[in-house]
Amino acid sequence: MELGQTALGLYAAGATVLTASLVKLKTRLELSKAKHPSVTGHARMARRLASLIPAYEYDEARFFCCDDAPAEVAACRRAGFDRLAELYRVRFAKTTQLTAEVADSISDLQFTDAYRVPFQFSRIVRRHLSAGAFVQSSSGVTVTDLDGNVSYDLTGSYGVNVFGYDFYKGCMERGQARVRELGPVLGPYHPVIAYNVKRLREISGHDEVSFHMSGTEAVMQAVRLARYHTRRSHLVRFCGSYHGWWGDVQPGVGNPVPAHETYTLRDMAEETLRVLRRRSDIACVLVNPLQGLHPNANAPGDSGLVDSARKAHFDRAAYTDWLKQLRQVCSERGIVLIFDEVFLGFRLAPGGAQEYFGVRADIVTYGKTLGGGLPIGVVCGRKELMKRFRDDRPADVCFARGTFNSHPYVMAAMHEFLAFLETPQARAHYVDLDAVWNARAERLNGRLRAEGLPVEVANMSSVWTVSYTQPSRYNWMLQYYLRAEGLALSWIGTGRLIFSLNYTEADFEAVADRFVAAAKAMQADGWWWHDPAATNKTIKRRILRELLAHRFLPGHGKS
Ligand SMILES: Cc1ncc(COP(=O)(O)O)c(C=O)c1O
Repeated sequence: MELGQTALGLYAAGATVLTASLVKLKTRLELSKAKHPSVTGHARMARRLASLIPAYEYDEARFFCCDDAPAEVAACRRAGFDRLAELYRVRFAKTTQLTAEVADSISDLQFTDAYRVPFQFSRIVRRHLSAGAFVQSSSGVTVTDLDGNVSYDLTGSYGVNVFGYDFYKGCMERGQARVRELGPVLGPYHPVIAYNVKRLREISGHDEVSFHMSGTEAVMQAVRLARYHTRRSHLVRFCGSYHGWWGDVQPGVGNPVPAHETYTLRDMAEETLRVLRRRSDIACVLVNPLQGLHPNANAPGDSGLVDSARKAHFDRAAYTDWLKQLRQVCSERGIVLIFDEVFLGFRLAPGGAQEYFGVRADIVTYGKTLGGGLPIGVVCGRKELMKRFRDDRPADVCFARGTFNSHPYVMAAMHEFLAFLETPQARAHYVDLDAVWNARAERLNGRLRAEGLPVEVANMSSVWTVSYTQPSRYNWMLQYYLRAEGLALSWIGTGRLIFSLNYTEADFEAVADRFVAAAKAMQADGWWWHDPAATNKTIKRRILRELLAHRFLPGHGKS
């Protein structure tokens, strides 16, 4: 009897362990299925692969024909490159000289310079096509460098510039005048903060606000609060999305240590919703709505432009539907839904992405443009999520500080920005905003098609990205032709063009003319010659062979 009971007990215990193991396995499998199949979707693997990639570069001969272009095409490319190099040397002389003087001492500059184009081409490009890192003034939709060259600004200052540089100069000047008497006093607040908080509450639809010094810090705090209040460990971010450079939101390449409490899941996928429904360790879901333009892909920098596989398309209805599904599952599961609007807030609509998509998050982060031209990060959220201590546990706090977090000058420039948003003049910028920018993109695409140029643009309102329609290894050269035509791009090149909303039709037409002229010049110089048999796949395979040869075959110093 006793033996029988023991056996029964063991059997029951075994069955329980087995069931638990099967459940664990199932949840594990579900998590795997919710990862995007690309390397970007597998942070750990991406880091491992990145560490294996050997450095190599093309010598001067190979540089012009790494796609086996015939000798006359290579010669044509070389002549075009030499002409461009000479133009850069003369036109950007002072700007380049000062850049060269400081480059060795500014780590950021060295990094951005090295990663403008695929690394196999980088050194030669840097030596001959440096546009320089300095500008002296801005006006309207243009910037002027040290040599007096005026360029149309398509950098958007990383997204800060929504209303035009002159507007931000005004915010900074009027703001400074407003708080001059107080100066740099920190700790006590300048009264402008009261207005800022009122407006941010109205705009976000949330109860409380906290001020930080950058978007990265705002995201850190939003995630920390979510973890504190849910008592859960993990954050979910979507494959490819950028949320600043803090470790937990950058689990892949770029972060020397793994982020153990981050799940990188597939955007716009049922498998992800299943994981959110099942797991009990998820504190928050972090959404950067800019991913709607290129779901599951990294920010499209030209250093990754090794072929023409880069694609983008914004489907507003589909992305809205996705956000609504996320909203629902987060509400059901007590997961904090965070919209990271640091980049897009105020660019799509005066009420940001929440208004644009008609979906309310639990916490929203803002930054960039909200500072009226000065550095900023802001978190807005529901009262119970923003609280940093527990009434019943006085020692259990969620700490967040920051010396400069409510600097009077920043708060005053923000005040000017928020006051402007209330004016009819600001509202006018948003009337038919998408229709205007979609029509402009369509017009440019029409011209590019009519000219037989293998280039097209995709856009999410005023944020654009360039794609290439036939396989090529040289698409990254377009950024240098665009600069030569007087279009200023950020260091990620043609991956992201950011227009400010003060671009008039005439300004835009001037940019479109220059864009087409640049692409025509590049085509005439032979860069888009291509072997009809080549595909993006064959290009990638070939690069893989080069990588393997340089890694494993001795004596492969150069290709
Ligand atoms: C969506 C998003 N979140 C956070 C950040 C980080 O902001 P910051 O560069 O001010 O730290 C950025 C910056 O580009 C961003 O685009």
